[in-house]
Amino acid sequence: MGVVVVAAGSGQRLGADVPKAFVDVGGRPMLGHALATAAALPGLRSLVVVAPAGMGDPAGAGWRGVEPPPALRVVEGAADRSGSVAAGLAAVDDGCDVVLVHDAARCLTPLAVFERVVAAVRAGADGVVPGLAVVDTVKTVDAGGFVTGTPDRAGLRAVQTPQGFPLALLRAAHASGQVATDDAALVERTGHRVLVVEGDALAFKVTTPEDLERATRLVAGRDH
Ligand code: C5P
Repeated sequence: MGVVVVAAGSGQRLGADVPKAFVDVGGRPMLGHALATAAALPGLRSLVVVAPAGMGDPAGAGWRGVEPPPALRVVEGAADRSGSVAAGLAAVDDGCDVVLVHDAARCLTPLAVFERVVAAVRAGADGVVPGLAVVDTVKTVDAGGFVTGTPDRAGLRAVQTPQGFPLALLRAAHASGQVATDDAALVERTGHRVLVVEGDALAFKVTTPEDLERATRLVAGRDH
């Protein structure tokens, strides 16, 4: 199995002076937390990190506290997330049956979520995403902000990463060069069925300064 960790975003909403994945969370960069979990996956054959230009040195700050596994490769990211994932997929060992794509910004995602996703892909799903039931009522709106609909909340899931797929299938979905905010959307567009498995509140994406504070508190609590 292979894992692609995308870490090439700028993280403007966080307002840090380094790319988001390299921001410190309790003594280790976000990317280091994500890599430590991915590297612990049983059966890992290929680990690819998609890094911003100029930050691709495995000996650099992003890897502090993590022993880079022998199967580690680092590639440069692209202007959008889909482009970054495509660059990562090209570097995955062709011998991998399954690939997971994970956001470095979801740096506290527990290993159990990774394992749940892999198990469901191995059980035959074309695509697997971790997700949580939505607690808020969600509205769709038009360009003017007027409500156009209220989807039934019971049928909604907020999805996270890692998202898992057979490697060949995800490569084919990305070959179109289309862009989406997650990988499952590209697989859905090619007519395949994607399964949602149980996500985890700890798999939240660090986006705002408040998220960063929460992640830092969680890491501090974990060490006591
Ligand atoms: O921008 P967003 O929050 O959706 O980013 C999710 C993940 O995708 C982050 O880990 C970020 O580093 C990564 N990303 C990337 N290349 C981009 C944009 C985002 O690797 N061009």
